[in-house]
Amino acid sequence: MTDWDRDSRTATQIIRGEAPGRVRIRTEPVLPVIRPEVNGSGTETRPVVFDIRDMGVYYGGNRALAGTTFSIYRNLVTAVIGPSGCGKSTFIRSLNRMNDAIPGFRLEGQILYHGHDIYGSRANRVEVRRRIGMVFQKPNPFPKSIYDNVAWAARNLGLKQRLDQRVEEALRQAALWDEVKDRLRDSALSLSGGQQQRLCIARAIAIEPDVLLLDEPASALDPVSTAAIEALMHKLKHRFTIVIVTHNMQQAARVADRTAFFSLDSTGADRTGTLIEYGDTETIFRAASDRRTRDYVAGRFG
Ligand SMILES: Nc1ncnc2c1ncn2[C@@H]1O[C@H](COP(=O)(O)OP(=O)(O)O)[C@@H](O)[C@H]1O
Ligand SMILES: [Mg+2]
Repeated sequence: MTDWDRDSRTATQIIRGEAPGRVRIRTEPVLPVIRPEVNGSGTETRPVVFDIRDMGVYYGGNRALAGTTFSIYRNLVTAVIGPSGCGKSTFIRSLNRMNDAIPGFRLEGQILYHGHDIYGSRANRVEVRRRIGMVFQKPNPFPKSIYDNVAWAARNLGLKQRLDQRVEEALRQAALWDEVKDRLRDSALSLSGGQQQRLCIARAIAIEPDVLLLDEPASALDPVSTAAIEALMHKLKHRFTIVIVTHNMQQAARVADRTAFFSLDSTGADRTGTLIEYGDTETIFRAASDRRTRDYVAGRFG
């Protein structure tokens, strides 16, 4: 076990308070219970990270998402695609309880994370956020130095030892170190958009989460920066489980191992988003079983 791993475990064990600074020591082990997937012949395959069961989301009286059931697997990139308004952001933000602050938000069904119900009465939102990091469409670095951005969460969690190493490691993993190593004290806002987004990725991974959620992380970036982010996905998936929302189908085809296609169910009076099809990216793009998926990936709607 490296120092990095050890710090990460300590972090997991101390995060029980509702806010950083009000932590109390947790004594029972909190390492995940990995529930293996079993295929048709009974052979174990990849561990399941999220087991999403009949998930639905309401904002007040409006249902944004319904009947969503599928699993997200460890060390894969899972893309979420679909037309605007079909609930992609709603879905991905629900995976780390980012929607909790929205008035009227209500989730039905279950999201099991390594077997633990993250909306259950025993779930701890701080711990959920610590293990499941998020990066948004628009790079949102804090108006602080490059260093302080990456160190921010670790400091809040009390992980102050070997902070320099932690920051360097995170910046290296985010493929940004070589570009910023001589200017760590400069403002993060002095970086280009593409660098800022990689900084946000470094900030998210500096506390060693298990999962990285990315909601259209490259849609505000130029093609070169987009390619850098995509290359990063391929690298980071060996260490993290990645879920990425993208409206760029070529991007999904390039980066994702699995793809979930969501669309609007227009059969009812309300327009509710729902999972239409989920599978290997190759299958979704070349031989989807649902006509709506085939139409969407062929560019016939959306
Ligand atoms: N904060 C919110 N409050 C109320 N309704 C929302 C909120 N966010 C999203 N919605 C609604 O939920 C539906 C899905 O939106 P969203 O998840 O943003 O879709 P997508 O990311 O696929 O474009 C839309 O009808 C949208 O208006
Ligand atoms: Mg969205």
